[in-house]
Amino acid sequence: MTKPFQMPEMELLGQLLRARGRNLDEGFLTWEYATTPKRIRRSVDRLTRNGCRIEYDIKGIRLIDSGLSVWSDYLHHALTGDSERAIQVYKQTTSTQDLAKARADKPSLILADEQTGGRGRLGRSWHAPAGTGLLFSMTTLQPRKDQSGSVDRTSFLTAVAVAQAIEHITGHGLIQISWPNDLVVDQRKLAGILVESICTNNGDPPTLIVGVGINIGLTQKHLASMPEEVRSHATSFAMQGWSADRLYVAERVITEIDRCLHAPNIPLLVDEWRVRNLFRDQTIRLCSNGKTIQGTVIDLDPDDGLIVRRDTGEITHLHAATTTVLE
Ligand code: BTN
Repeated sequence: MTKPFQMPEMELLGQLLRARGRNLDEGFLTWEYATTPKRIRRSVDRLTRNGCRIEYDIKGIRLIDSGLSVWSDYLHHALTGDSERAIQVYKQTTSTQDLAKARADKPSLILADEQTGGRGRLGRSWHAPAGTGLLFSMTTLQPRKDQSGSVDRTSFLTAVAVAQAIEHITGHGLIQISWPNDLVVDQRKLAGILVESICTNNGDPPTLIVGVGINIGLTQKHLASMPEEVRSHATSFAMQGWSADRLYVAERVITEIDRCLHAPNIPLLVDEWRVRNLFRDQTIRLCSNGKTIQGTVIDLDPDDGLIVRRDTGEITHLHAATTTVLE
């Protein structure tokens, strides 16, 4: 008789995450993995010892919450993008951008439960109470030598990737992209993206640090004690009535970013951006390099930024790194 297999913990965790809070049938798992209830119990115990909260009773096995201590092992197991990538998870740090920058000489992915100095574009702060956000930064090589073009391209590709992943997880229709870096639902900000470029060695193409913050567990109660600009503009998975474990969201979002950043068909992704563009054919005011510009948003050039027809009739390209949309 063949010996029953060990139930690999990361496989079990993957099954639990994909079950999205529903009960998994013990009989199904013993059959699927040719194992025994005793061995499944052992894997559940190991996950629990590592901080996962799991209910295991007559109804089946259900994940309440993945513990931070399993995030790194699970993402190593689940992400196929770059096997060389170092993955680190912090309970608290200043900013995952800073940690990723300090390790920019090799591929890395840094996640944190809480940031004490989280930042957004153009010197703004990023606020997320501990445990409420999916916060990460990853290093990626410049797709082009021209720095500004690469920041533009990476910002738009990341925005499309994060939007598509969230749509897939939640079953919500299109998530809108407020160029260059905000993801918006019902006029409120669900996620932000920060792309920074740094030079490591002379002559090497600069490395880009892609930072993503997604509001997951943020509630109205948290918002009450947050700065006014967050209180009046933010939304979250919880506030939209969507439930998903942060680790599951991390897996889906990072997989999609890896895919989009290496996608060969950029025009197809520009189309994906166009249908999500919050400002399509709208007249807006922007601030670019300290100057205010008013015009109609026409399109996006993947490497040359937002294409705007000014009120004077002149066509201008505005770069993600230096432009912000004014209210
Ligand atoms: C923005 O809205 O302007 C961009 C926000 C980006 C926030 C993320 S959270 C993870 C990473 N670390 C940071 O300090 N910022 C980014």
